[in-house]
Amino acid sequence: MSGTRKRLRSAEWFGGHEKGAFIHRSWMKNQGFAPHLFDGRPVIGICNTWSELTPCNGQLRDLAEQVKRGVYEAGGFPVEFPVMSLGESNMRPTAMMFRNLAAIEVEEGIRANPVDGVVLLVGCDKTTPALLMGAASCDLPAILVSAGPMLSGSFMGRMLGSGTDVWRLSEEMRAGAISEEEFTAAESAMSRSPGTCNTMGTASTMASLSETMGMTLPGNAAIPSVDARRRVLAFMSGRRIVEMVKDDLRMSQILTRKAFENAIRANAAIGGSTNAVIHLQALAGRVGVEFSLDDWDRLGRDVPTIVDLMPSGRFLMEDFFNAGGMPAVLRRLLDAGLVHGDALTVNGRTIAENNGNARIESSEVIRPLDNGLTDNGGIMVLRGNLAPNGAILKPSAATPALLTHRGRAVVFEDIDDYHARIDDPDLDVDESSILVLKNCGPRGYPGMPEVGNMGLPRKVLQRGVTDMVRISDARMSGTAYGTVVLHVAPEAAVGGPLALVRNGDMIELDAPNNRLNLDVSDDELAARRAEWVAPEPPASGYERLFIDQILQADQGCDFNFLAGCRGAPVARDYV
Ligand code: FES
Ligand code: MG
Repeated sequence: MSGTRKRLRSAEWFGGHEKGAFIHRSWMKNQGFAPHLFDGRPVIGICNTWSELTPCNGQLRDLAEQVKRGVYEAGGFPVEFPVMSLGESNMRPTAMMFRNLAAIEVEEGIRANPVDGVVLLVGCDKTTPALLMGAASCDLPAILVSAGPMLSGSFMGRMLGSGTDVWRLSEEMRAGAISEEEFTAAESAMSRSPGTCNTMGTASTMASLSETMGMTLPGNAAIPSVDARRRVLAFMSGRRIVEMVKDDLRMSQILTRKAFENAIRANAAIGGSTNAVIHLQALAGRVGVEFSLDDWDRLGRDVPTIVDLMPSGRFLMEDFFNAGGMPAVLRRLLDAGLVHGDALTVNGRTIAENNGNARIESSEVIRPLDNGLTDNGGIMVLRGNLAPNGAILKPSAATPALLTHRGRAVVFEDIDDYHARIDDPDLDVDESSILVLKNCGPRGYPGMPEVGNMGLPRKVLQRGVTDMVRISDARMSGTAYGTVVLHVAPEAAVGGPLALVRNGDMIELDAPNNRLNLDVSDDELAARRAEWVAPEPPASGYERLFIDQILQADQGCDFNFLAGCRGAPVARDYV
């Protein structure tokens, strides 16, 4: 190591002969770190969301070890630290309630400690945006490594996709088509290895968009969790972050407006999760990129979905990996001029340099753009008197015939009301009705859970109907499907027009023309508004902070006070 090397942030802790440096070094040495590791080399934080309560992230202990090997090999000093993990399958009321809390922990954990760069170890849905958001507000060099998807599941001769087939199997059981024993047996078949959901759910989507935005080494999104090549990618990421620190290649140079525009187009091409809209909106707010809901419609709408994965299509992430993964998708988009090829990535090269010659191994799984699954794969943004600040719909998961539909509202005041009445034989509903669910937004639930794809009434299901128009202020799992209008803003709990819908009102969905209208006069709505009573907020605790600070869905559901980049400097030490 040369003596001319530039003084890094970590040297503020470990450099010199003051009392403070003694303390910082001495206590670290109790772990067996050799003295030469404190010589001014890059200190790399490995921010790990491993947890047994986040089964999707189970591989991250092993991957952290691979990252460390890479960091050491490149002459850095790796230090692993845990942050709050967010397990979608276990957390109540919803993991989304804690995305911002984890982001705070990540941001403060990085800033408070002697690290020069970070490797973000993520997997399950909310862990990716939480770590990106927190790290972006510090703006140190950072590289993301995902846990990777589970292997494909199979049951009774049928491929099983995480999440996607849960909805399908549970509706089949409710309709009496499969037994409870078969339903239970399918559990073990669906999740047969560590890793994230093997469908194009939110975890796969956020991994794919992170790769698109340049925050990972090429290929990160699709390598199966247990594949040896993921260990190699983790190792190489460890090597690379050391170079990024030396080059001072920071997140703000990568997460530019171009990166976000590329992500919108890629999201359409992969048939990605609607949750990406909220997470990217929040991330853009952290890095100060101007980015609105309408960008999604404008840039993504005409991009076909070309990746034939559940929930929009047939295959699973393992097939996607074998077909060429995100590099192959980006190549298709580059060839068509649909992404900015000059956007920079963590390896110091551009998107075009990394992916321009990528191999496309299967035109069935990753189709050509002129033979997409659907012509407009992007997110549709809807507006109208029912959603003045916007709502979204994923056409690739919807029934085309229902995208233009006028129907009678069947209203559920909240999720408890829905559960109590949905299977009531006397519920006045048929397949032409529109199911409306209120008070499931960021403040209303609270936390905006993934209940927007609420199951259909049993008596409608038993007639063989598989889809109806549903409208709510909730989110939907990235693994789900249906003609589902989501993220209605403002939400019911803050007095948005959704709060005023009543049974029997006529609602008009005209997705091709971006319209969502409640056929009720302004006078009548004003009269209903006068009767509306705001819900009482909780008196204390994190829930109180959440409700006081949470932004609406169209603004990404970050906390009001967290927007922006605060950088990594800390003014004072404690000695
Ligand atoms: Fe964790 Fe799907 S539940 S990735
Ligand atoms: Mg999910």
